[in-house]
Amino acid sequence: MEKHVLALQLSHILGEKFPREWIYDHIETPKLEKMGDLAFPCFKLSPSLRKPPQELANELALQLKHDLFESVQPVSGYINIFLNKKFTTEHTLKQILTERENFGKHQFGKGKTVVLDLSAPNIAKPFSMGHLRSTVIGNAIANLAEHCGYETIKINYIGDYGTQFGKLLAAYKKWGDEQRIQSNPIAELTKIYVRFHEESKNHPQLIEEGRLWFKKLEHQDEEALRLWKWFKDASLEEFDKIYHLLGVTFDLTRGEAYYNDKMEATVDLLKKRHLLKASDGAQVVRLDEQGLPPCLIKKSDGTTIYATRDLTAAIDRYQSYSFDEALYVVGHEQSLHFQQIKHVLNKLELPWADSIKHISFGMMLQNGSKMSTRRGKTILLEQVLEEAIHKAKVNIEEKNPKLTNKNDAARQVGVGAVIFHDLKHDRRNDVEFSLNDMLTFEGNTAPYLQYAYVRARSLLQKGDFDEQHADPHLEEEITWPLVKQLKAFPHVVEQSYMNYDPSKTAKYLLELARTFNQFYTHSKIIGGSDQQAKLTLVFSFTIVIKEGLQLLGIEAPEEM
Ligand code: ARG
Repeated sequence: MEKHVLALQLSHILGEKFPREWIYDHIETPKLEKMGDLAFPCFKLSPSLRKPPQELANELALQLKHDLFESVQPVSGYINIFLNKKFTTEHTLKQILTERENFGKHQFGKGKTVVLDLSAPNIAKPFSMGHLRSTVIGNAIANLAEHCGYETIKINYIGDYGTQFGKLLAAYKKWGDEQRIQSNPIAELTKIYVRFHEESKNHPQLIEEGRLWFKKLEHQDEEALRLWKWFKDASLEEFDKIYHLLGVTFDLTRGEAYYNDKMEATVDLLKKRHLLKASDGAQVVRLDEQGLPPCLIKKSDGTTIYATRDLTAAIDRYQSYSFDEALYVVGHEQSLHFQQIKHVLNKLELPWADSIKHISFGMMLQNGSKMSTRRGKTILLEQVLEEAIHKAKVNIEEKNPKLTNKNDAARQVGVGAVIFHDLKHDRRNDVEFSLNDMLTFEGNTAPYLQYAYVRARSLLQKGDFDEQHADPHLEEEITWPLVKQLKAFPHVVEQSYMNYDPSKTAKYLLELARTFNQFYTHSKIIGGSDQQAKLTLVFSFTIVIKEGLQLLGIEAPEEM
């Protein structure tokens, strides 16, 4: 708000040469407290006004006046502005009290649609750490987008097609045990698939069998189709348990196979535009000018592949949703693939090709090396979540043995811990996996944030806080840092979405909780003459931290 006020005033003083938006974009937030709360760099004005920055700063400082501003100081070519704490506090708390969970929402996405491709695990294979990252990062970005006013469509593009399913079918025909698969589908299917790989080293004819089964699948052979569908449904059922635990939902679950009968149209389109070139019997789109290897469209045996399906799916998604942005939340490893997809769509002169963005992320590491789903190193996500929940419960039992809803709280804390541990890192970095680090109450963790929330809620109870009598008039110096943090929330949400970076929100919440804890430790909240006003601040804190956690996909327990 204060930025808008400053921009408006400056634009009045400076005249139409400097539009308000331009001024707004150049307002800075000083790093150091002693430089004020806002600053404007006057050297940006110097060239057109032909005056030295300091002279401009002196002149402007004299003319800027508003209830919001405590003082305006010209320093080294900058105008530094200190906000009036009393006025700002009152304004901020009033705003939070009236807007409640809408505090932090924006309108700039109104009327626009963002399609997100997230999670996308492969059937008959364990849900990997990479898919976990995609799920939680994608979900948080979708929440942030909604907070900015966008409509979002979350699509789970299940990996349910490809030559590997031929191998799986062949493996099933050889060693499959219906009952065991029934009771533990993903583990059993993985087992026979791995066995197929091992044995095909010595028995190369297996590869041929796999190829035959894939052909059958491609030609809709009844048995192949029935088995494939069974594997798919059983896998989805297992994935659903994970989504349920994580609290993530999708608008559309649609696998790659859906595009099988729609790919020919894409191939035709490429042909019509003379983009398809033969290369060693395969069909490719050359991307030489882009400095990239060719994008493979059709293999020499006539089968289509991953890229063809993604091209087809993108075209289909645009037809269905006319999206303004299409975000693909997928690991770094696939960055070449998404560059190729985008270039091919561009070559097709589809005007929306540039709205496609690969939101890439790093790997989940364990002891410094990649966590893999290959045998021996397998870490099953469901087990991870369950262990996190179990550890959280042990923790809670120790800290709060009398708590009635231990299981609920343990789930919220355990799952929250896993999600937050991922989101607090810049998504592009690799993340080291450590259950213990995730779950401490003291570190940079979800439990730390949740605990701050619980503390605040219990203060409100103890002080019998009544919203009807909220009082936003606080004067004390000690409350200012917390007010300043709360005030920043809407800006953080905006920045977090604009950069597709949930870690900005995560880091902000840590800072917010830390500031609250300082206030909690150093200030007498209950029993003072200003109890009601301080509790109003505490109440505002609970609204913002709960909302912030929710944006990240984390629940805030009432007790823990
Ligand atoms: N199923 C793929 C994998 O696990 C990820 C799919 C990502 N989304 C996409 N549209 N290609 O590698």
